Amino acid sequence: MPTHPKIKAGIIGFGRMGEMYLRQMLKSHQWEILAICDTDPDALAIAANLVSSDTILTTDEQVVFADPGISVLVLSTLADSRKRHLFKAVEHHKHVITEKPLGSSIEEEYAVLDKLQHSNIMATVNLPLRNAWYHKTIKEFIATGEIGDLAIIRVCHMTPGMAPGEGHWAEGPLFHDCGMHYVDIARWYAQSEFRTWNAQAIRMWNYEEPWWLQAHGTFENGIVFDVTQGHVYGQLAKDLTHNGYVDLIGTKGIARMSHDFVTATVELHGMTKTHLIRKPFGDKNLDVLCDLFARSLACGILDPSLPAVRDAVIASEYAWKFLEDAARHDMPVRGDLQTLREIRERRNDKRIGYGLLRKRKKIR
Ligand SMILES: NC(=O)c1ccc[n+]([C@@H]2O[C@H](COP(=O)([O-])OP(=O)(O)OC[C@H]3O[C@@H](n4cnc5c(N)ncnc54)[C@H](O)[C@@H]3O)[C@@H](O)[C@H]2O)c1
Repeated sequence: MPTHPKIKAGIIGFGRMGEMYLRQMLKSHQWEILAICDTDPDALAIAANLVSSDTILTTDEQVVFADPGISVLVLSTLADSRKRHLFKAVEHHKHVITEKPLGSSIEEEYAVLDKLQHSNIMATVNLPLRNAWYHKTIKEFIATGEIGDLAIIRVCHMTPGMAPGEGHWAEGPLFHDCGMHYVDIARWYAQSEFRTWNAQAIRMWNYEEPWWLQAHGTFENGIVFDVTQGHVYGQLAKDLTHNGYVDLIGTKGIARMSHDFVTATVELHGMTKTHLIRKPFGDKNLDVLCDLFARSLACGILDPSLPAVRDAVIASEYAWKFLEDAARHDMPVRGDLQTLREIRERRNDKRIGYGLLRKRKKIR
């Protein structure tokens, strides 16, 4: 039985992510959504089908910020309004669960970090890999010493996911928008800061920005890493597939994970123990994020396992740095814009693909 009254929250930005938060919070005994704001009336029409008639649905963000009954805001617009929203959250004393990135430039993100560090609101960022059971399991196994000293971190995320020009225009190239999660999880495993790096990218389908990037380098503590990320993985194949894994190589053993977006498989090969664990993948792990944040509010201390604003800013900063490094090297082009048009048409019109945004009337 719930022992605390429900936390009253508002959602600003009701696209793909906003709807995921709503669905998660509607399932939970911890949360009550009082208001939803989106500048697009079509998004509010979708929300209207999911919430009770007394939920405020508005295109005016001020209605939500100024509502004294709301104590928590979910910020899930695109990055161009994030800094303004986070500053307003501090002014109106609303705690926040915010989407990444925390601004549309690294300067904005550091301004946000500074603002939040000097505020008394609680904030966490949706870095879902940090809340994933499989990464926590692997990290705990490594901490037992079973694989010796962690030496090599390999992370790969390649899917036939969001194509160039399909959305998220404010989030930067794909390696920034999505790749920052994998930059972050490499740093989370290393428990150290990036020291050196080299990056290689390719401009698939002659699009202006790279849509695949691989970075490798070192951390301050001597661990080496490679991160490969791209939504360039067979968008026009008859049957879609993907390749997502982490490979943690120690001086004595290894630990690895792969998934098919439904089930994650963890294989632990330690000196004295071998484990094979298969469990549901968990997608964005919003159940964990929302639960831990609700518990944090109840006790007044942010759960230390929740993704911190500083971690999100650092992940974003290094995703930008790796993109900058790739831009200094040869960046070849393969494919043409006609193929990209076919990919967009298959994804947007035929609704075939991974990570589909809501159907857009227009694409860039
Ligand atoms: N953490 C993750 O794993 C993850 C995954 C996907 C997306 N994201 C992030 O979540 C954010 C939203 O992504 P999405 O996929 O839901 O995008 P989306 O385009 O589906 O949704 C964005 C919504 O915000 C609305 N909006 C834009 N500006 C607004 C404003 N000023 N006030 C109110 N509403 C506004 C839009 O109308 C749209 O409905 C992005 O910043 C993205 O980077 C994070």
